[in-house]
Amino acid sequence: VAAAMAAERGVAMATCTAPVNIAVIKYWGKRDTDLILPINSSLSVTLHQDQLKTTTTAAASRDFTEDRLWLNGKEADVGHPRVQACLREVRRLARKRRGGAEDTAALSLSYKIHIASENNFPTAAGLASSAAGYACLVSALARLYGLEEELSEVARRGSGSACRSMFGGFVQWQRGERPDGTDSLALQVAPETHWPELRVLVLVVSGEKKPVGSTAGMQTSVETSPLLKHRAEVVVPERLAQMMRHIRDRDFEGFGQLAMRDSNQFHATCLDTFPPIFYLTDVSRHIIALAHRYNTHHGHTKVAYTFDAGPNAVIFALADAVAEFVEVVRRSFPPATNGDQFVRGLPVGSAALSPELVAAVVTEPVPGAVQYILHTKPGPGPQLVDDPSQHLLGADGLP
Ligand code: DP6
Repeated sequence: VAAAMAAERGVAMATCTAPVNIAVIKYWGKRDTDLILPINSSLSVTLHQDQLKTTTTAAASRDFTEDRLWLNGKEADVGHPRVQACLREVRRLARKRRGGAEDTAALSLSYKIHIASENNFPTAAGLASSAAGYACLVSALARLYGLEEELSEVARRGSGSACRSMFGGFVQWQRGERPDGTDSLALQVAPETHWPELRVLVLVVSGEKKPVGSTAGMQTSVETSPLLKHRAEVVVPERLAQMMRHIRDRDFEGFGQLAMRDSNQFHATCLDTFPPIFYLTDVSRHIIALAHRYNTHHGHTKVAYTFDAGPNAVIFALADAVAEFVEVVRRSFPPATNGDQFVRGLPVGSAALSPELVAAVVTEPVPGAVQYILHTKPGPGPQLVDDPSQHLLGADGLP
């Protein structure tokens, strides 16, 4: 309604922020590429927006002559099929909500829209920006049109993993059974307050961009990997139930073990794809070996890694292990520069490493291999930005 009233005077506008999420039971493979319906359910942790977020402003006006889109300040293709699918679905819900009647107080669905979106983290770092991006686009559009319903189904049309960014904390994407996708939704398993000690370290690995995008990569996997088929039919249903229990019980041992195994199986399906897809690099494998040496030294699971369609590691740990593990990473991957800004995000205390720990764990240092570490934690879902000075578009509807 507020947006609609502003429209009388020219430009109606809404701004939202949305989070990144990291899957601990991975989504890989679609049964319907148009509707983005997955072959298996998945489960993720939503990361805190203080460290990683997308901000999107959506505006509508009678005076706009065409739909336009700006990403990180640069004009982009608003005709992208996935952007169009999200727009169409939000408008369809708005029309349905109005029951077909011409509501003169409501923002006209025929007005052209302007959208501006930006990330508070470098896009090039390969930190799953499409999930936050589409979750944010859908949230901002929904606000603009005054929608209040469940929107994970719409965000899913932008990017599969985006539906999980519509909630905070621990989120399941149910694969669903129906061919029309109406039951392929995200559901919150537990809020971000459920496990207060849980921390996340993103190890941003230096080097090139990922070779194959996830959309193309997973399609080749569906067509060629028998391991992926087995994973979707047999492995994931069992693991999903286990993972839900580990989260419910705040059992880090179980949670961490299963997160590592599931990441490894996802990358095994990539190798089983023909021709094979490689997302892990030598540095990724160094981090994997390091985490195992560290856990072995301590005699239990203190850290757990997971990797998406790229070489960056996401490490889960409990708060009391963070300082020591960060020091282990710093020793194992000595920063190329003087170490300035090597650790970003939430504060990390200092830790002295015992000679036994160093001897057992820091075995093969690779200088400069990790660019920086981002320290964060689970966080909430999309947020409305109330302060109009935070809009990414001016009163004229331009960035
Ligand atoms: C490895 O959601 O990016 O990160 O649905 O084609 O947009 P599309 O793919 P996307 O795939 C994410 C794959 C993953 C695992 C995960 O997030 O579950």
